[in-house]
Amino acid sequence: MPQPTIDRDQCAVCGACAAICPCLIFERTKDGIRLFPDRADWCFACGQCMAACPTEAVSVPPLGCADFPALPAGAADLAALEALFLERRSVRRFTEEPVSREALEEIVRLSATAPFGVPPTDVEVTVFSTREQIQAILPAVYTGMEQFMQALRNPIYRFLIRRQMGPEMFDALMEHLLPFVPPMCRLYRETGFDSATWGAPAMLLFHHPKRSVCGKENCYIACTYAMLAAQTLGLGTTMIGIVAGVVDMDKALRAKLGIPDGNQCEISLIIGHPAVHYRRAIPREHKSVTWVG
Ligand SMILES: Cc1cc2nc3c(=O)[nH]c(=O)nc-3n(C[C@H](O)[C@H](O)[C@H](O)COP(=O)(O)O)c2cc1C
Repeated sequence: MPQPTIDRDQCAVCGACAAICPCLIFERTKDGIRLFPDRADWCFACGQCMAACPTEAVSVPPLGCADFPALPAGAADLAALEALFLERRSVRRFTEEPVSREALEEIVRLSATAPFGVPPTDVEVTVFSTREQIQAILPAVYTGMEQFMQALRNPIYRFLIRRQMGPEMFDALMEHLLPFVPPMCRLYRETGFDSATWGAPAMLLFHHPKRSVCGKENCYIACTYAMLAAQTLGLGTTMIGIVAGVVDMDKALRAKLGIPDGNQCEISLIIGHPAVHYRRAIPREHKSVTWVG
């Protein structure tokens, strides 16, 4: 467990650490900042006390203040953020221009700033930086989809899969997603057209150790950050659920990609230069919003 410490000589006793610590480890008293020794064990190294301390007096090893980036001036305002959100679409048609390594590095770097359940983050990313690398896994992806559909025709497998997924999720998948799979596979087999990764020149695959708190949610949030980061670079993206699902079930493919055995693949993000530009946003609202009281 990390052990927070305070350099009394440097501490300005401003109380910022006490005001923000989620574990209530610090208390501001008239004699200075008090550390509750029995609560120090609760520290999960979120880094917030160090990010807020004006004098670098708080320390939570192994975190080091020197590694904390300075905050850039001028955060995005609401209008800029709304513009970014509204212009984003799931892009499924790309030019042949590759995505530069620099752009992919920036996208991955920014996606790591996403919130996650409990530090340290457990999100792992596998980067496909060329179309050839994506194409190399497509035969296994389509075979995996076909085998899954085949398995569903067997009542025993169907029962087991339904039980494993939960009946609501299974029924929703059967209704809304699985009808697309046979035509996708047929199209690929007959014409080579790839409607799983849509000819994208790059892809990120997000996965996490199965033994992790909020691993699934962490991957989805990081993927959303990556999506928005890519948008600022003029790139188009689409989250692709189906590829992660199939890779997850294919032990040989996972080994080839260096995805650890105990990891769960959650979601992938295809990235490329959009071949089509949108002229307007699409109106969107939540299914329901209820104000309490
Ligand atoms: C979790 C998730 C999984 C998705 N999986 C796929 C997919 O496998 N294939 C695909 O073409 N689009 C996929 N999408 C994209 C959605 O279809 C798309 O977000 C939706 O139609 C709304 O369109 P918009 O993103 O342009 O607003 C996925 C989106 C999410 C959030």
